[in-house]
Amino acid sequence: MSAPAFLITGATGQLAESVIELLGGRGDRLLLTGRDKDRLDGLRRRHGVVGRIETLATDVFDPEGARLAAEEAIRRFGRLDGLVHLVGGFRAGPLFLTDIGVYERMLRDNFLSAVIATQAVLPYLGEGARLVYFSTPLAGEPLPALSAYTAAKAALVAWVRSIAHEVKRSGIHANTVVMTVADTPDKRRERPGMNFDHTVTPELVARVVGFLTCEESDGLYGSCVPVLGRFEFTSELGGPPPGAGGPR
Ligand SMILES: NC(=O)c1ccc[n+]([C@@H]2O[C@H](COP(=O)([O-])OP(=O)(O)OC[C@H]3O[C@@H](n4cnc5c(N)ncnc54)[C@H](OP(=O)(O)O)[C@@H]3O)[C@@H](O)[C@H]2O)c1
Repeated sequence: MSAPAFLITGATGQLAESVIELLGGRGDRLLLTGRDKDRLDGLRRRHGVVGRIETLATDVFDPEGARLAAEEAIRRFGRLDGLVHLVGGFRAGPLFLTDIGVYERMLRDNFLSAVIATQAVLPYLGEGARLVYFSTPLAGEPLPALSAYTAAKAALVAWVRSIAHEVKRSGIHANTVVMTVADTPDKRRERPGMNFDHTVTPELVARVVGFLTCEESDGLYGSCVPVLGRFEFTSELGGPPPGAGGPR
C-alpha cells in the first residue's frame, strides 16, 4: 500500500517544521500550504522531495483556496488521508482595548479556518483518515486579557467534538491537541520574561501529532489530548506546596 498523504495547513508557522520532520521522516507524503511564498520556498528547500513533500501557496481561509489544496493533494499523491490544521493566531488585550475586528480575526484564524479547510478535505477522506486541530488549556480555563483568543479556541474545541461524532460514522478520527506555549525562537524573542520551564517543545507536540495520525490512536474520536509539559495553573489559595509549609 502507498504511504499515507496529509495536508498540512499553516505549514509556515512555528510548530510546522517539527511536524514535517516527524511525519516526513516516517515516510508520509505531505502537502504543505501557507500564504507566505518566501517561507514556503524555505520549507521546500529544507524538506522538499518531489512526489513526497511538496508545497502549495494558497489561502485555506478562502474556500476556493482550500478546495485547491485538497485537489492538489489528490493530484500529486493520488490519495488523501487527513488534515493537520496548524493555522491559528494569537492576540492578547483587555476587553475595553479589544475592538471587534480582533474578535473577528481570532475567530477567522483559529476557528473558521478549520471549518473551511475541513469542508474542503472531507469529500476525499475515508476509513481511518485523521483530522488534527490545535487548542490551548486556556480554552477550558480562560485567563484575563485573552478573551478573543480563548473564545475562538473554545469554539474550535466544541466544534471538533461535535463534528467528531459525524465523521466517525465514516471511520474518520477528529481530535484536538491541547497544548501550552511552545518553546520557539520567536517566542523567546517576544517573551523574554516567560518561564520557559513551563513550555513544551515543538518536538513533543509533533510526537503527539504523529500519534494522532497513525493507527496507535484508533480508539480516539473527538478527544482533547493535553500536551502541557510542566505547565500548571497556580493559585495562592492552597498556600505553598506540600512539604514546604503547605498541606500535609
Ligand atoms: N505556538 C504555541 O505556543 C501554541 C500554543 C497553543 C496553541 N497553538 C496553536 O497551534 C497551532 C500552530 O501554532 P504555531 O505556533 O505554529 O502557529 P503560528 O506560528 O502562529 O502559525 C500559524 C500559521 O497559520 C497561518 N494563518 C494564520 N491565519 C491564517 C488565516 N486566516 N488563513 C490562513 N492561514 C492563516 C499563517 O500562515 P501564513 O500567514 O504564512 O499563511 C501561520 O504561519 C495554531 O493553531 C496555534 O494557535 C500554538
